[in-house]
Amino acid sequence: MMMKFGSFKFFYILLFFVHILQSNADFTTEKYHQINITQGTGPESIAFDCKGEGPYVGISDGRVLKWKGSKFGWTEFAISSPFRKRSLCDGSTNSNLEPLCGRPLGLKFNTETCRLYIADAYFGLSVVGPYGGVAKRLAISAEGIPFRFTNGIDIDINTGMIYFTDSSIIFQRRDVDSLLRSTDRTGRLLKYDPYTRKVYVLYDGLVFPNGVALSMNRSFVLVAESTRMRILKFNLGGEEKIESNAPEVFAELPRVPDNIKRNENGEFWVALNTGRSGTAPNDIPDPIAIKFNQEAKVLKRLDGNGAIAFNSISEVKEFKSKLYIGSVTKPYVSILDV
Ligand SMILES: *[C@@H]1O[C@H](CO)[C@@H](O)[C@H](O)[C@H]1NC(C)=O
Ligand SMILES: *[C@@H]1O[C@H](CO)[C@@H](O)[C@H](O)[C@H]1NC(C)=O
Repeated sequence: MMMKFGSFKFFYILLFFVHILQSNADFTTEKYHQINITQGTGPESIAFDCKGEGPYVGISDGRVLKWKGSKFGWTEFAISSPFRKRSLCDGSTNSNLEPLCGRPLGLKFNTETCRLYIADAYFGLSVVGPYGGVAKRLAISAEGIPFRFTNGIDIDINTGMIYFTDSSIIFQRRDVDSLLRSTDRTGRLLKYDPYTRKVYVLYDGLVFPNGVALSMNRSFVLVAESTRMRILKFNLGGEEKIESNAPEVFAELPRVPDNIKRNENGEFWVALNTGRSGTAPNDIPDPIAIKFNQEAKVLKRLDGNGAIAFNSISEVKEFKSKLYIGSVTKPYVSILDV
């Protein structure tokens, strides 16, 4: 293709741009900072509300917290477990309490209504208004099969439809390591229709489906299949039915993907759960997240350079020229300037 232009110069200019696009996004400590969380740990997903306030995060003790700036810190915003006991749950990092306390994983504001939708690993899909409180449960099963591990979420702002995943109908979140080692393929991609209040199974038989992200014009939805280290693409028809049963493979990944977040340009950040446990030498590639365009072209690879801060990444959320990085195990949100 390059030769059509009859010029080697063009070829080298092209190589140069390919290099720029694919070079590791480097960061220095000046560009990195973190917001510590003392109330619990594991801010797996990050959301901003319709006024641009936040971030909001769901943590290990079952609460959704809102960051109110360095003066006021984190404040409790919502809970998704109707049975949550403060005396037992507040501050908990014990995963065996999650079935009681809740574990809000996927968070997404409908910026039209300012309502926050929560995919809680144990309490299904729920919603809470702009002032927070106890979230109202919307769905706990589909086609008669209870959710077991509700996980990723995205919303079609135009139609109000909610796309989410149930990672398995057998394994719970606290058994996530067993799920990753298993051959379980009971994960489902689901859609909640707020008008009919019904949940539709868009696709089942998935291997640990995790993050979900709609494309900018909602012509497709991406789903991370964690165990298989790949991103699937489901085309959505005009009536939002999955057109063909077979999804396409959007991308194969070097590490286990977790959440996928679209930025305002319609590009996707895929967080890679690195599974590292120490520092790695600097010269070994250490991808912690990859940014794709809608055509699955790699735009950027975020390299962790072996930094311990990035041992376990669950989400990269781009917001106002910053990357907010969540983790299911760390007691802070990392922030990088872009
Ligand atoms: C956040 O936690 C880290 C590690 O414990 C600590 O070094 C840092 O000073 C803390 N930052 C703030 C603002 O408290
Ligand atoms: C949506 O965007 C895709 C590019 O990602 C384009 O191919 C498609 O035609 C668009 N669909 C509509 C209905 O605009």
